[in-house]
Amino acid sequence: MAAGKGTRMKSQKPKVLHRLGGRALAQHVIDTAARVSARSVVVITGHGAEMVEAGLTPPEGVGLQFVRQMPQLGTGHAVQQAVPVLADDGITLVLSGDVPLTEAATLQALIDRCAGQALTLLTLDMPDPTGYGRIVRQGDAVQAIVEQKDATPAQRAITEIYSGIMAVPTRLLRGWLARLDNRNAQQEYYLTDVVKFAVADGCVVQAHRIGDAAQVAGVNSPLQLAELERVHQRRLAEALMTEGVRMADPARFDVRGSLVCGQDVDIDVNCIFEGCVRLGDGVRIGANCVIANCTIEAGAVIHPFTHIDGETLGVSVGAGALIGPFARLRPGAQLGAEVHIGNFVEVKNSTMAKGAKANHLAYLGDATLGERVNFGAGSITANYDGANKHRTVIEADVHIGSNCVLIAPVKIGAGGTVGGGSAITKSTDPGALSVARGRQVSIDNYQRPTKKTAG
Ligand code: UD1
Ligand code: CA
Repeated sequence: MAAGKGTRMKSQKPKVLHRLGGRALAQHVIDTAARVSARSVVVITGHGAEMVEAGLTPPEGVGLQFVRQMPQLGTGHAVQQAVPVLADDGITLVLSGDVPLTEAATLQALIDRCAGQALTLLTLDMPDPTGYGRIVRQGDAVQAIVEQKDATPAQRAITEIYSGIMAVPTRLLRGWLARLDNRNAQQEYYLTDVVKFAVADGCVVQAHRIGDAAQVAGVNSPLQLAELERVHQRRLAEALMTEGVRMADPARFDVRGSLVCGQDVDIDVNCIFEGCVRLGDGVRIGANCVIANCTIEAGAVIHPFTHIDGETLGVSVGAGALIGPFARLRPGAQLGAEVHIGNFVEVKNSTMAKGAKANHLAYLGDATLGERVNFGAGSITANYDGANKHRTVIEADVHIGSNCVLIAPVKIGAGGTVGGGSAITKSTDPGALSVARGRQVSIDNYQRPTKKTAG
């Protein structure tokens, strides 16, 4: 269910598209459904339907369908829109698009207990159950779910609440939904009314009660979104630490995508990992790094305040490389083993072979650097002529002095040297020293002008 408005988000963006851990809330729900081998996922849209439909992607191997609920007349009415596309021989799992942290194991337990026969509700005890549907039991047996606004004072005292999640045999659900009415305090078609039909029909109704509130917590406001984000991040951090990753502070750590770590990885505070990031054995990440779509090989060290974003091309950092502090690696940066990138160096769409170095204040764009190249402080590749981009090739063992401009396309032959301050426009031969700058002029005993006195 993803048709609701999400008024309290006070946002133009539909609530279920707000992001948690870098993924839309509803995408979490869809992806979790895929992990319990859903045959198909049907998303009920309404408010902002077009945006929601465009903003969600089918998980691998699972069909994703959208049905629209216009207007929104309640959760029962929402599910009524979906049943025509559900197969009668299946189990329907009803989930809310704004409840992102339900675990697959919990859903699997619900499905197992449903077993194609019973109506199974996910429930929880809450110290303050205000606002939720209450689980009304007679003895142990579940009799009904009563909504807050319809509940008697005695029912309001019940602390076991309905999470909004149920597993139900589809053929039974279809029949019960056809019997819903909206004669209640909110004049809505309540999905929760299926419980009383099930009881009346002699169908087994069971509650699967869990203790972990975060798994059923919904997002209604920016505050709740931020709170669940922390819960989510804490869980990701704990899972990584269980695998041996050492973190200076799991409360100052964010993954917005997937982070895969080898052994003996150390991560300092305030690091953000986005998209797909892989860290090899012994990698160390300094404080305040933002790292996206990147593979970092064993033993590499990323010093503080480094920004890496591979976007779709990716970035790779070779074994034992030293990057930063204050480095910027952009899409297509492919750095070999033991490469050194120092402060205020930007690398884009460039390959650096083993041992190549650019330690200070440099730009390498569309360049290919051979092994052991030393690219001096303040030097850049001028890769863009205002219309097209061109490559710079710097062969092995070249030494580029400080403050050079290599105007591409250009190639510096192996072992060559380029004098500081050169603007290189022509390719050079292997072993050559190239200097391309105004020759120095020195005037002996030069007298500087002196200030004229007024009048
Ligand atoms: C519902 C349950 C309540 C339960 C609570 C858990 C009903 C009648 N009540 O409450 O017992 O404790 O969830 O959070 O089901 N939605 C639609 N179309 C609609 C109405 C809602 O798609 O017409 C979607 C919402 O976007 C949301 C979900 O259904 O994702 C739940 O709706 P919400 O209004 O939050 O739940 P309640 O009806 O208050
Ligand atoms: Ca409601």
